[in-house]
Amino acid sequence: MQATLIGIPTDVGASRLGAAMGPDALRVAQLAPALQQLGVAVNDLGNLAGPVNPRGGRDAQGLRNLAECLHWNQIAHDAVLQVLQQSRLPIMLGGDHTLATGSISAIARHCRATGKRLRVLWLDAHSDCNTPESSPSGNLHGMPVSSLCGLGPAELASLSGTTPALPASAFCQIGLRSVDASEKLMIRALGLEVYDMRAIDELGMREVMRRALDGLLGTEGEDTHLHLSFDVDFLDPDIAPGTGTPVRGGPTYREAQLCMEMIADTGRLASLDIVELNPALDLRNQTAELVVDLVQSLFGQSTLMRRDASPAT
Ligand code: ARG
Ligand code: MN
Ligand code: MN
Ligand code: MN
Repeated sequence: MQATLIGIPTDVGASRLGAAMGPDALRVAQLAPALQQLGVAVNDLGNLAGPVNPRGGRDAQGLRNLAECLHWNQIAHDAVLQVLQQSRLPIMLGGDHTLATGSISAIARHCRATGKRLRVLWLDAHSDCNTPESSPSGNLHGMPVSSLCGLGPAELASLSGTTPALPASAFCQIGLRSVDASEKLMIRALGLEVYDMRAIDELGMREVMRRALDGLLGTEGEDTHLHLSFDVDFLDPDIAPGTGTPVRGGPTYREAQLCMEMIADTGRLASLDIVELNPALDLRNQTAELVVDLVQSLFGQSTLMRRDASPAT
């Protein structure tokens, strides 16, 4: 397997500064060597260059830094599309979660061109499906899901060349525990598949992941492109403090490992966003190191040789 790291150092979609340092924190935590150990051939494009954070207030529409968000997402879209066209697996190092609009728009475009079905797993404490009208904060990192479903700011919603970029049914959200009242309505209206923390409590991570990954195993899943959008605030803040909008009560270390291992077992992972890592809020890079540890599981690291896991070569 060949993967390409793309640093997307932006925090213009968030209120708190610092996620722009995420890509380098992941490099310091040895992300590339960790993947190489598993037989993944990795190259690193370095960090994309985009606008600085103007630290703007809310505009007439109520949005913060829309022009800069658009710019970053266009850059991200173009870089991700190029990597996909080289048949490499892009790993987006964020950066705030807005960048998933650009990355997933490129992935949707690539899937359309190659006749693949797209499945997006969204690991997050939040649902990120606010719209300019509903957002309590004006922060665009709270809107990528609605943008991709055709309901965000028009320029963001049309990045993939079609609006919506993908059907809402392609998404599956896991780990939610902070959902705005407006987002609850949106989840209903879009019919999003959601496993919130209560579902994880009641069903267990194993059953949640079994359901989330249904249809991906075996020949049935053969022409599915599986994308993982991994917001670091999915993890419990006790183990992952380095993020801008932490919410208590997230998955434990073991639950997160099982989640990653079960995704790896499908053998369908074809692209990955790692977002919302904020080194300015971290403790000696422990969150970045935890993420690298989890990404190793995602790429097939397991304690024993497993019948259903094909080694990542
Ligand atoms: N729902 C809140 C908002 O719209 C928080 C979003 C947090 N999103 C994130 N990607 N961390 O502002
Ligand atoms: Mn391809
Ligand atoms: Mn989040
Ligand atoms: Mn998010």
